Amino acid sequence: MEPIGIEPIREAHVEGFHAALDTVARERRYLSFLEAPPLEGTRDFVQDNIRNGHPQFVALAEGRVVGWCDIRRHPREVHAHRGTLGMGIIPGYRERGLGRRLITATIDAARAQGLHRIDLDVHADNLRARALYEKVGFVEEGIARDGVRIDGRFIDVVQMGLLLS
Ligand SMILES: CC(C)(COP(=O)(O)OP(=O)(O)OC[C@H]1O[C@@H](n2cnc3c(N)ncnc32)[C@H](O)[C@@H]1OP(=O)(O)O)[C@@H](O)C(=O)NCCC(=O)NCCS
Repeated sequence: MEPIGIEPIREAHVEGFHAALDTVARERRYLSFLEAPPLEGTRDFVQDNIRNGHPQFVALAEGRVVGWCDIRRHPREVHAHRGTLGMGIIPGYRERGLGRRLITATIDAARAQGLHRIDLDVHADNLRARALYEKVGFVEEGIARDGVRIDGRFIDVVQMGLLLS
């Protein structure tokens, strides 16, 4: 089996990224989507990331997108030193170091872009993701109690932040 590569996203990855996002969203546990947005919206998102230098990386197993990580710079001037991170890896590829590789590459790119702070939200019961974020330096800054509701169940949302400089 070929080693799994981590690469900046390209237009050729849009459909694979959309499929991976849809797979993780449909697990109904981890993301704030329950399915991927329409393909054209995903294409716009990726094109905007590429055009504006918002870091986004994908993990590729034999050419298939099996994970992603993106950091989007906030649009307002007073928040433009901040970016919001999102990521996911499809089942079967988790807990073998890919998350660590993806997030490290994406944070390094955000630092190179001059971002000062990265924000993220994580469901309180997602202990694996929280462990990864803490390992790369994120600090828990707050909790939005009952911040999401999935299938009638409320889940707290942990707000985390990382200062880059
Ligand atoms: C969360 C996620 C990105 C983590 O990526 P991963 O590839 O599974 O994790 P890694 O193998 O890179 O592990 C990273 C670190 O977390 C630790 N970790 C892994 N699984 C863990 C678990 N179940 N509990 C606690 N810590 C765990 C590892 O020990 C590792 O630390 P190390 O590098 O010092 O050994 C991935 O599992 C995933 O996409 N999950 C579903 C979607 C999701 O949760 N997205 C994030 C929404 S906020």
